[in-house]
Amino acid sequence: MQIRGPIAFEESGSGPLAVFIHGYPLDHRLWLDQLDGLSDIRHCVAPDLPGFGASEPLDEFTMETVADSIATFIGNEQADIVALSMGGYIALALWERHPEAVRSLSLLDTKAGADTQQAREGRRAQAVQVAEQGTGSLVDGMTRALLAPGAGAGPKRRLAEMIGATTPEAVIAALRGMADRRDRVHVLATIDVPAAVVVGALDALTPPTVAVEMSTRIPGATVSVIPGAGHLTPIEAPEEVTGVLRHFLDH
Ligand code: MLT
Repeated sequence: MQIRGPIAFEESGSGPLAVFIHGYPLDHRLWLDQLDGLSDIRHCVAPDLPGFGASEPLDEFTMETVADSIATFIGNEQADIVALSMGGYIALALWERHPEAVRSLSLLDTKAGADTQQAREGRRAQAVQVAEQGTGSLVDGMTRALLAPGAGAGPKRRLAEMIGATTPEAVIAALRGMADRRDRVHVLATIDVPAAVVVGALDALTPPTVAVEMSTRIPGATVSVIPGAGHLTPIEAPEEVTGVLRHFLDH
């Protein structure tokens, strides 16, 4: 792990910068296969988001404050942004606030809309659960929700390790930040850099219908549906996801 300011990150390779933004309640390890598989074409950097993994927390975790911290982390460079789920919410805020930092956008298993009232209530209940029982109590439910029904032992272990390493404070801050996030559907039409939408065929949280609909709003976006994978495509179908990203980034 490297540290720059408040952000801890893993990196590989050389070439144009690509920044990989993980989802909730995960950390940079979501992207280890892609860091390995794309190191010959990109300088791949996977940060831990503020408060997650080894990165310092922010006073307030919102999609905007986290996007700003990613923009500061990128500095004067431009990056191919690869982002999953909550990472996608942050990537859209980054595009809205710091478009000069973004060379391209790969949006995996994510959506642009805000939470429904029901989703907000679910997040409140999850925050109470974590405050009372710790993050380990999330593992069983999240394994069912995030991974495809036939997921193997490898993705299950990796998911449990990431959840287990996340503090209750980070979980609660992110739940609040996601519940309060703005609708950014209108932002999609403003994306004028190359964009790729990727989704697991069995993603129950942000299903292919949502991803395809989102892709139609982004001028020129490609869309790829990954067979057999659920919401966590980078660990459920690592080679396929790396292949899709390689094709997108290389063309
Ligand atoms: C994620 O994978 O980042 C989260 O499940 C997204 C969400 O809860 O909205």
